[in-house]
Amino acid sequence: MQSIKDQVIVITGASSGFGEVTARMLVAEGAKVVLGARREDRLKALCDELGTDNAVYAVCDVTKHEDLHTLASKALDTFGRIDGLVNNAGVMPLSMIGAGRVEEWDQMIDVNIKGVLYGIHAVLAHMMERGSGRIVSISSVAGLSTTPVSAVYSGTKFAVKAISEGLRQECAGKVGVTCIYPGAFTTELVDGIKDEFVKELMEKRGFAKLAQPAERVAEAIIYALGQDPGVAVNEITIRPLAQG
Ligand SMILES: NC(=O)c1ccc[n+]([C@@H]2O[C@H](COP(=O)([O-])OP(=O)(O)OC[C@H]3O[C@@H](n4cnc5c(N)ncnc54)[C@H](OP(=O)(O)O)[C@@H]3O)[C@@H](O)[C@H]2O)c1
Repeated sequence: MQSIKDQVIVITGASSGFGEVTARMLVAEGAKVVLGARREDRLKALCDELGTDNAVYAVCDVTKHEDLHTLASKALDTFGRIDGLVNNAGVMPLSMIGAGRVEEWDQMIDVNIKGVLYGIHAVLAHMMERGSGRIVSISSVAGLSTTPVSAVYSGTKFAVKAISEGLRQECAGKVGVTCIYPGAFTTELVDGIKDEFVKELMEKRGFAKLAQPAERVAEAIIYALGQDPGVAVNEITIRPLAQG
């Protein structure tokens, strides 16, 4: 492992959950972070907490590819390079396909798939030119297998797996590519579930009791970012011990 100190890491979805915790842990280890999300108040408060020499932000909706370029430009203008991208922004409004919640399908496809592609696009040329970089994308255990109510979310997370593997092959020798598959961890993700049937199901399944701290996933992200230049960790599955 090499030190993460002084590395410049861009994180999408940094206003809460894995993104926020990863930013804190990276700065604690001496890295510089460039944070993107839509909720500016959260990003500003986090940058103030971490110190504006270490953390800067750009308001970024990952469904708009130009916003990802703004975020990448913020990193280049402030720190002069991008060593790593954490493609983390995501939404999970679960429902049965038969419930026909079409707008939520569109949102998941736009944020979870297109957002990941736009993030890659915003940093890839820079990394290929430098001949180094890391792109870590957050899929889910739902990107490895699916269940009722998860079909569309799973579809988007299977896509992140496919995109990561294709990218890995295209960038071999230059950019390290990692896809992480978390199980249940405590963040704000479940707040996005609006379907009453799914809310009751999550309650019955005891999702909240099962979930482990987000810091465990942040550690996995930092493990992937901190590999020696000649090594890439391509996939990490991390879930609560009790998750069946
Ligand atoms: N928590 C889990 O158990 C779990 C398990 C497997 C996978 N994941 C994945 O982990 C990733 C992070 O989620 P989390 O659990 O940390 O949930 P979270 O606390 O809800 O964080 C999601 C982040 O994504 C951002 N986001 C949502 N829509 C966005 C958009 N259009 N543009 C930019 N940012 C957007 C949110 O920021 P704004 O609202 O401010 O934009 C927020 O910062 C997601 O990809 C999720 O699918 C989570």
